[in-house]
Amino acid sequence: MENYSLALLILRPLNRRTSLILLCLFVLASHCRAQDIASLEKIGPAVSFTRNDKGITLNCSDKSQVQLTVLAPDLIRVRAAFTKPLPARDHSWAIARDDWQPTQWSLTETLDAITIVTAEVEAVVHRSPMLIEFRDARTHSTINADEQPMMYDARGTMRKGMFDPDAGVFVAAAKKLGFDEHFYGLGEKAARLDKRRGGFVNWNSDTPGYVEGRDPLYQTVPFYIGLQKGTAYGIFFDNSYRSHFDFGQFSQEHIWFGAEGGEMNYYFFYGPSIKKILGRYADLTGHMPMPPMWALGNQQSRYSYYPDKMVEEVARRYRQEDLPLDVIHIDIHYLNAYRVFTWDPQRFPDPTALMGKLKQQGVKVVTIVDPGIKYQPAAPGAKTEASSRPELGPQEKSYYVYNQGIEKGFFQKRKNGQLFIPRVWPGDSVFVDYTLPEARKWWGDLHRAYTDHGVQGIWNDMNEPADFVDQTGGNQRDVVSFDEGEKTTHAKNRNVFALLEARATYEGLQRLQPNQRPYVITRAGYAGIQRYATMWTGDSNSTWDSLALSIPMFESLGLSGEPFVGSDAGGFIGRDTGEMLTRWYQVAFLTPFCRNHKDVKGYDQEPWRFGKYYEDIIRKYLKLRYELMPFLYTTLDEAHRTGAPIFRPLLLNYQNDENTLDIDDEFMIGDDLLVAPILKPNQTERLVYLPKGTWYDYWTNKKYPGGTMIRVDAPLETVPMFVRGGAIIPLGPSMSYVGEKPFDPISFAIYPDENGLASTTLYEDDGSSPAYQDGAFRRTKIDVKRAGIGYLVSVGAPVGNYNPGRRKFSFVIKADPIARVVTIADEGQARTLEIR
Ligand code: GLC
Repeated sequence: MENYSLALLILRPLNRRTSLILLCLFVLASHCRAQDIASLEKIGPAVSFTRNDKGITLNCSDKSQVQLTVLAPDLIRVRAAFTKPLPARDHSWAIARDDWQPTQWSLTETLDAITIVTAEVEAVVHRSPMLIEFRDARTHSTINADEQPMMYDARGTMRKGMFDPDAGVFVAAAKKLGFDEHFYGLGEKAARLDKRRGGFVNWNSDTPGYVEGRDPLYQTVPFYIGLQKGTAYGIFFDNSYRSHFDFGQFSQEHIWFGAEGGEMNYYFFYGPSIKKILGRYADLTGHMPMPPMWALGNQQSRYSYYPDKMVEEVARRYRQEDLPLDVIHIDIHYLNAYRVFTWDPQRFPDPTALMGKLKQQGVKVVTIVDPGIKYQPAAPGAKTEASSRPELGPQEKSYYVYNQGIEKGFFQKRKNGQLFIPRVWPGDSVFVDYTLPEARKWWGDLHRAYTDHGVQGIWNDMNEPADFVDQTGGNQRDVVSFDEGEKTTHAKNRNVFALLEARATYEGLQRLQPNQRPYVITRAGYAGIQRYATMWTGDSNSTWDSLALSIPMFESLGLSGEPFVGSDAGGFIGRDTGEMLTRWYQVAFLTPFCRNHKDVKGYDQEPWRFGKYYEDIIRKYLKLRYELMPFLYTTLDEAHRTGAPIFRPLLLNYQNDENTLDIDDEFMIGDDLLVAPILKPNQTERLVYLPKGTWYDYWTNKKYPGGTMIRVDAPLETVPMFVRGGAIIPLGPSMSYVGEKPFDPISFAIYPDENGLASTTLYEDDGSSPAYQDGAFRRTKIDVKRAGIGYLVSVGAPVGNYNPGRRKFSFVIKADPIARVVTIADEGQARTLEIR
């Protein structure tokens, strides 16, 4: 519909007849895509099959082969090769796990169908036409079914619109569209939460100033969740070629997904709960490792702070204003003429000293590292760098990174063997072929140019990879990557470029600082990126629309396996206002990644820039973020373990409540906090939907029954925030940066439910080392129940080997008009106490 109104708008100045003809052409063109899959060849009927202990392989009448593999009772993989046998090579950069425990399953066969039965799913392959259907093993009801047999472009009708017709054949699958079916996930999309009726493309793209509807954006996560009447399933179409997802944009009967090459290769996940699907998705593509706790701290950036004195000034000002700060990001101007892994000798003559000064104030530094390495053949007669600190030396005649990469043959080349020379910030540049394991190792090791000076984290930008010559990738079409010896081109490798760069960076940091958790933030990515990097949503606008759009974007990313997300607080491009910045912080203070960042030409927007009135409010929220750190860190651990994101749409916690299915102007943090931010100017009240249960206004403790919409006041000082009845929120002391003080006391704010019950499990570890992976953590379960006129609090025996030392626990019952508080020493033992 939107397309048609847009067309009408554009056509308005023309006369009626021309307009009509043009409109008809436009409508026809829009419908071409609908016809596209209709022109595809369908896979032939199954004529025979073989079975092994993991699944079945079907042979089709047209010599196609289809494989169904049981990975877990709720996870089945479907793979198809059209008119040829399945290749022996089976590789994906996204997959983290292939050592699945053998799963019990059985096979039944009838004249019409072959059925795999696990404890949870029946995968039915109808023989002719060949249609795959997934059913609930308990109820036998259909969860998801092919509407047409799987397809491929035998006649070449799709070739014309493809990025590189020579790189592959279009493959697609069409699934029945349920009347009440909703679609979620699909990674980073400038779209609302429910993707029903939307059409999307995945092709990592540098898209500064994007607005709702712009597609594709920076990242590709070809994974979605379907939800119908409370029952959810997931599909991960693991294909890195440019892919297309159509959730009923043109058809009332089917949705489809396809790619411009590669295999029909997807994983079917059965819930019925979305959280269970996210857990399995994390098992398959990797769990997010715990980042250092300071990554949850407040971060400040701009394009760019320089020289070093300016960076010091930012830190000093933060402390002077009593605003908490953990990290400053240093953007491209710290580099010696944009050469990555170097320092500008005038602007940053002594990075070690700078990092030392900042460290004294608790401030960490993250430096940007782009993939574009300046193309710089050594000047004739130039000495190649022999120094142990080449990053500080002059680079004008000879640039050590370029020299090494050329010598080792690690840079991307075109099909004809010529070096590929894209244009990025340094001008002519080269890119590393990160599919080469040795190149990844080299890239990772180069980071000593940062870690040796005390840099704590790396910011991977421009890794779509952006190329100013042609942002669509056209200039890169014939670039060949090693790809495990397959020597494939850009059509296949573009979408995984950032994943592999982030992997190289992450693994490098691990080697360089084995006792520290790596911290990497990336702009582009592919499924599995959560194993290596946190992310932000790129070059957003400083507009109210952009702020509003960020909510469904974070929620969708969370439903796509990426829990650590955020946007540039205040927006990147354009001019902020005090009001907008304040409202932005009322979202950002709860996003995992909380960083204010601004474009090079943008009007400054640090929290103090619009005056004391706004700054005071922003300070209140930043301080609250730090007080909530024990709570946020506990939800971070949950995301790491279970794949359930920190920043959630309501529907993740209440998928059976149909009122939540489309809400994307509210969000939840973990299970317990519900936030209804203000996303428009001059608005001081709003409607808030509270799901079933009891809710407490965070600010007043006023109790509300859920399952209804309420109207609440929201003056600029206040973001409407509610706590779920039954929750306990652990809070720590106010801090200027993570680690400034021990978490002592930890205050448990108790919000009893209708039955007077509440519980939580606090998670703690050292916050910085990888020791949590070997059991150095502590989980403390707290249970509260009403007993007469008071409450009984049981503190469980802590689990895990981490010892936080002696500190106090205090418990506050928030249900009361007068909060009752009891404080005890935490002896690391189980105990029960009474609050009267
Ligand atoms: C890109 C990034 C932005 C950064 C700029 C300069 O636009 O998205 O965050 O500031 O490049 O490095």
